[in-house]
Amino acid sequence: HKYWGIVPAAGVGKRMQADRPKQYLELNSQTVIEQTLTRLLDVELLTAVIVAISKEDSYWPELKISKNPRILTAAGGKERADSVLSALNSIADRAADNDWVLVHDAARPCITQSDVEHLINELHDHPVGGILALASHDTLKSVNADLAITDTVNRNKIWRALTPQMFRYRALKDALQEAADKGWVMTDDASAMELQGKQPKIIAGRADNLKITRPEDLALAQFFLEQQ
Ligand code: C5P
Repeated sequence: HKYWGIVPAAGVGKRMQADRPKQYLELNSQTVIEQTLTRLLDVELLTAVIVAISKEDSYWPELKISKNPRILTAAGGKERADSVLSALNSIADRAADNDWVLVHDAARPCITQSDVEHLINELHDHPVGGILALASHDTLKSVNADLAITDTVNRNKIWRALTPQMFRYRALKDALQEAADKGWVMTDDASAMELQGKQPKIIAGRADNLKITRPEDLALAQFFLEQQ
């Protein structure tokens, strides 16, 4: 079976308060998305990487990497899950049901080739698939609407979901399609599998695999890239 990369990159990045979507901000004299895609393309096992791009996006065609023969594009959707589903549908005539897909956020530029290969090595014969994630080191609190603490959550059972998230092509497509049909709101791919009653596996990832979300994250990402 083959391995495909899927990169949802159709978000607008409201929380960045920047003049352009966050994947086009500059990081190490490249854009965030070029950094992300270059690192994914280093994983030779990936047949191609399908990038979901918004129809209104005028930045993408300007990037040299958009012409890379291992990069394909698909139309972005309203939510992240719609963008991933659109990318999956775009390779329907090339992908086999049992092929693996690795979904990775465009906004996570510090992903390392070794972390991706670790995920693949750990999961290639797993029945469901799984995700990179981070153990939670802070003590976790549940609150009510007034921000009064109602509960302390057992942090030993809590992991923070990162990407890539790796699932079989057909299983993920069907799970995302059902979620779309039923209007279920999800912020990652594993959620769609969980809603099918599946139990994706957690693979411990690197702490520097952050998602660019707020303005200060760019400086952090820059620092991490220099350290790697
Ligand atoms: O908004 P958030 O940071 O959770 O977005 C995660 C990833 O999903 C980003 O790379 C973003 O570009 C992508 N996305 C998308 N289509 C949307 C919303 C987000 O591809 N409609």
